[in-house]
Amino acid sequence: MNKQILVTGGTGFIGSHTVVELQNNGYDVVIVDNLSNSKVEVLDQIKEITGIRPKFEQFDLTDKQKVKEFFKKYSDIEAIIHFAASKAVGESVGKPLMYYNNNLSSLMNIMESMIDCEVSNLVFSSSCTVYGQPDKLPVTEQTPRKEAESPYGNTKVICEDIIRDTIKAYPSLKGIALRYFNPIGAHATAKIGELPLGVPNNLIPFLTQTVAGIRPELSVFGDDYNTEDGSAVRDYIHVVDLAKAHVVAIERLLTGKNKRNCEYFNIGTGNGVSVLEIIKSFERATGEKVPHKIVARRAGDIEKIYADTSFANEELGWKAQSTLDETLLSAWKWQLRIAKM
Ligand code: UD1
Repeated sequence: MNKQILVTGGTGFIGSHTVVELQNNGYDVVIVDNLSNSKVEVLDQIKEITGIRPKFEQFDLTDKQKVKEFFKKYSDIEAIIHFAASKAVGESVGKPLMYYNNNLSSLMNIMESMIDCEVSNLVFSSSCTVYGQPDKLPVTEQTPRKEAESPYGNTKVICEDIIRDTIKAYPSLKGIALRYFNPIGAHATAKIGELPLGVPNNLIPFLTQTVAGIRPELSVFGDDYNTEDGSAVRDYIHVVDLAKAHVVAIERLLTGKNKRNCEYFNIGTGNGVSVLEIIKSFERATGEKVPHKIVARRAGDIEKIYADTSFANEELGWKAQSTLDETLLSAWKWQLRIAKM
């Protein structure tokens, strides 16, 4: 029998790509999602890509009773990948309690059920946001975490701590926190991708919507940073490369290859890329022009961050494969597809 994996937030952007990779690697997947930021049709798209429609339960993980009932019904879950969370940085500043409630209580409910139902393995969606603006680049997993810039960022820091402390108290539990850098792009089939609600906050959906004519122009937030061309630098990783890191993390836990009960990995490419370089790469890859203007810095943005991925490369045997041009082309193909939806 295939091993059964619970993927929370499995109809979302990173979740859906991870479900595809899990199913392609022979895992049975059950998704829990409240569909607050995704569409149920994603399940059909996953079936079109993999031939398998994952099992699906729609409920909110902040509902402890529902979480308990779920684990009673699915008694053969071997591991959990916990994506489900609110993730809009700006919104979290205005609605901190909603962010703390959603992101912390869903994790705590899941971990309580892990203890009650003897499910040992957890992979958690963390973020490079836990490093803030680091003093030294690239960041390794040992780079000290900094006080978070937003309630969203703080939920990632606190969730990492909840996992660490719970694993310490219950040594039968094992966890891996994957600290994502900036996930972008879409599946090569253009059947799944990022579906932002309303005006996108993130760079790539805003850029592709601009080129598609939905937005008049892209604002480049700041050209006076201490970087080569003055625009801010991030480590942009193809979402499929990121999804594959989850399969490797699950395999590591299920085969007992983890070296500690609680581990952390940077999941990025190792390359720092500026906003202006993104525009150039997109234009090169797609042949399209990106209308843009330079505006003031965005409040709360950091100047520069990119990953040292050597620990993930060596320990997980995983490495991001896609080039930036390929990644941006996949994002553009996805934008063209959703224009037709
Ligand atoms: C933020 C979060 C990160 C989260 C990610 C996805 C922080 C510090 N980072 O990343 O944890 O995982 O969102 O939700 O909390 N930019 C423009 N014009 C735009 C939009 C963005 O120039 O219209 C620039 C930004 O200034 C930044 C870069 O593009 O330099 C990337 O921005 P964005 O895609 O929003 O991601 P982050 O802010 O890096």
